Amino acid sequence: MTSLPDGYRAVDLTPERLLDVLTVDTWAFPSGVDESKLAELPSSLSWDRTRGVEAPDGELVAMHSSFPFRAFPVPGARTAVSGLTWVGVHPGHRRRGLLRFMIEQHFAKSLERGEAVSALWAAEAAIYGRFGYGMASTDLRLTIPRGAALRDVPGAADLRVRIAKLDPERHDDVIHAVHARVDRPGWVTRETPEHRRSFLADPEFFRDGAESLRLALVEDADGSPRGYALFRRKEGWVFEGPRGVVRVREVVAQDAATARALWGVLTDLDLMAKLDVDAVAVDDPIWHLLVDPRATNALLGDNLWVRVLDVPAALSARRYQAPVDVVLEVTDAMVPANAGRWRVVGGPDHATVTRTDDEADLALDVRELGTAYLGGVSLAALAGAGLVTELRPGTLHGAAVGFGWPVAPGCSFVW
Ligand SMILES: CC(C)(COP(=O)(O)OP(=O)(O)OC[C@H]1O[C@@H](n2cnc3c(N)ncnc32)[C@H](O)[C@@H]1OP(=O)(O)O)[C@@H](O)C(=O)NCCC(=O)NCCS
Repeated sequence: MTSLPDGYRAVDLTPERLLDVLTVDTWAFPSGVDESKLAELPSSLSWDRTRGVEAPDGELVAMHSSFPFRAFPVPGARTAVSGLTWVGVHPGHRRRGLLRFMIEQHFAKSLERGEAVSALWAAEAAIYGRFGYGMASTDLRLTIPRGAALRDVPGAADLRVRIAKLDPERHDDVIHAVHARVDRPGWVTRETPEHRRSFLADPEFFRDGAESLRLALVEDADGSPRGYALFRRKEGWVFEGPRGVVRVREVVAQDAATARALWGVLTDLDLMAKLDVDAVAVDDPIWHLLVDPRATNALLGDNLWVRVLDVPAALSARRYQAPVDVVLEVTDAMVPANAGRWRVVGGPDHATVTRTDDEADLALDVRELGTAYLGGVSLAALAGAGLVTELRPGTLHGAAVGFGWPVAPGCSFVW
């Protein structure tokens, strides 16, 4: 275990220390907004999962927390996942091992609570691999020109899209209901009241000159929601005319016609020249609806990072898209209980994982197990990069098919 530098000590954090927490947070993430203003916003923190480190003079100089994702979607199932978040170290105390210490605490506490997996969004992609987190999902950032041609979907033109200013009081239930219904590995939803409130908070100082959040909503004739988009517009003018930008935060649709109707509205807003779209799954309907996807200058980014904390519990909590029976030789520098040989027997409706002395088929580090965990990155692709080794010839292909999943993993929100 990593120990703290002399005089530093680990502390539990409570709501009374909110201002200290926001002070560390604004040192780590210089948003330019004073902590007294941030303190007026609803906080997403689950305080019973929030810990800090004090320097010898008692100042809080590092913190981390985790979201309790109790129904985190994994291939074919849902399981409890510890969502590491609010990680920050004061710049005057960095590179002394405070993050490493906090990660070890996070692993231990998560395991105590029975959370076999941890997941996070990384501020910088180079940080977390060393702790065994693998890049389990990627997403697309798109710049869609106004009026981009979209393919037709039967029924889309009959749907009515209502557009309103977002009203958290009125719209929270509808947004949550639609978001929670999505069946996609990694699609974490806002499960706690704190998280739901903070997601819809929309302070002016984070709008960068754009309007407040707007909601486009599609409902059935009986008023039940089918999908929504959250977006905001920012005006812009040049001599030749309007050049506004639509910033799309999230588009969630339960069926193809709803997705087509929502994107149809977003791509046809007056005075706008383009849409900036953050973090859509790599197989999101918009990618297939666009007649000219190349015109979007698509960028691939990292989405969720996954850390398998308990190999047998994690691998038996998910399902496999085809029958699989494989022995994995796993290395894990931080959680020794994971190291060794595991037989994974699974299929679309079952999975068991047991320790074994049998000869191993594949060898890999726990980081690669995290990368493959949500079914979006093939074990064969990882073998192509030298990160998975096929010890018994002929076993890689079947394992790669079994560990895959027909729907790409990913999530639309990142904090
Ligand atoms: C990133 C951050 C938390 C690191 O904290 P820290 O206490 O300096 O980290 P540690 O000293 O424990 O470093 C642990 C390891 O991570 C590495 N590391 C730390 N920050 C890194 C970064 N930004 N990029 C790459 N590697 C990094 C260290 O070099 C060290 O590597 P080693 O174990 O191989 O020697 C801190 O710099 C910070 O708060 N940054 C700004 C906010 C942020 O990015 N938070 C993360 C949110 S997801």
